[in-house]
Amino acid sequence: MGAVRLITAVSRDHVIGRRGTLPWRLPRDLAHFAEMTAGGTLVLGARSHADNGGPLPGRATVVVTARAAAVAAEAARRAAREWGAVAPLTAAPSVAAAVAVARASWPERDVWVCGGSRVYDEALRTPGLLDELVLTRVPLDVLPASEGEDGSEDEDEVALFPTTLAEREFPTLQRTQVLRDADELRLFGGSAAASAASAASAASAASAASAASAASAASAAPVESLPELQLRIEWRRRP
Ligand SMILES: NC(=O)c1ccc[n+]([C@@H]2O[C@H](COP(=O)([O-])OP(=O)(O)OC[C@H]3O[C@@H](n4cnc5c(N)ncnc54)[C@H](OP(=O)(O)O)[C@@H]3O)[C@@H](O)[C@H]2O)c1
Repeated sequence: MGAVRLITAVSRDHVIGRRGTLPWRLPRDLAHFAEMTAGGTLVLGARSHADNGGPLPGRATVVVTARAAAVAAEAARRAAREWGAVAPLTAAPSVAAAVAVARASWPERDVWVCGGSRVYDEALRTPGLLDELVLTRVPLDVLPASEGEDGSEDEDEVALFPTTLAEREFPTLQRTQVLRDADELRLFGGSAAASAASAASAASAASAASAASAASAASAAPVESLPELQLRIEWRRRP
């Protein structure tokens, strides 16, 4: 049976999405997502599924939606027409149900819980659901300090990651992987119940986090206006 992992990319101010799409352009992280999830089953909310433009090639997909029956029926129709006998896309009414469907339908595949906010929240709150959390820290503040005060941004348009909940459930930094082009990726593993957080690994997690935030103090410009290179050099290699 494959593992169940949560995968996300989160800004310093806990943002994962804005206006229905990613708030940054970070090709190295997209490549990382593609590499990690290849051959797996994605579990994601209806809006994230729409943002992907439909099912991603080489992966099965379970969409979490209150309209699960209708979405699954439409997927089955399209499967017969376009994809052959086995639908790579189906739907379920909750995250736990989606993971159960994923494991029953494609038991040999890893399951990747891919967002958005409510999906992450439910996954983290479901005891024993997740084996690992794979988190890319995007060292940018997406929201201006004055966000929302003048009504310039509709709160509903911003998707946030439940960072406090995730840190409670996954306190131990298991592995930090350094990517090419000065990108840095953090891989957290083992739930709080399953793995004792040693003082040494907690300290190394804290120092890595402060190094990353010290490195990214100059990111006040709107994300959209930053060229790719600047985004990429915001990532700090571990010494
Ligand atoms: N940075 C990242 O790693 C990352 C990852 C994923 C997404 N994103 C971004 O996040 C944004 C989308 O996230 P989002 O939070 O707005 O939406 P979302 O979770 O992708 O989709 C929300 C919809 O999914 C359904 N749904 C979600 N959780 C459910 C549950 N537990 N039970 C039943 N239905 C559920 C509901 O649709 P129905 O109305 O059909 O029931 C809900 O309206 C986009 O901007 C996307 O680009 C970023």
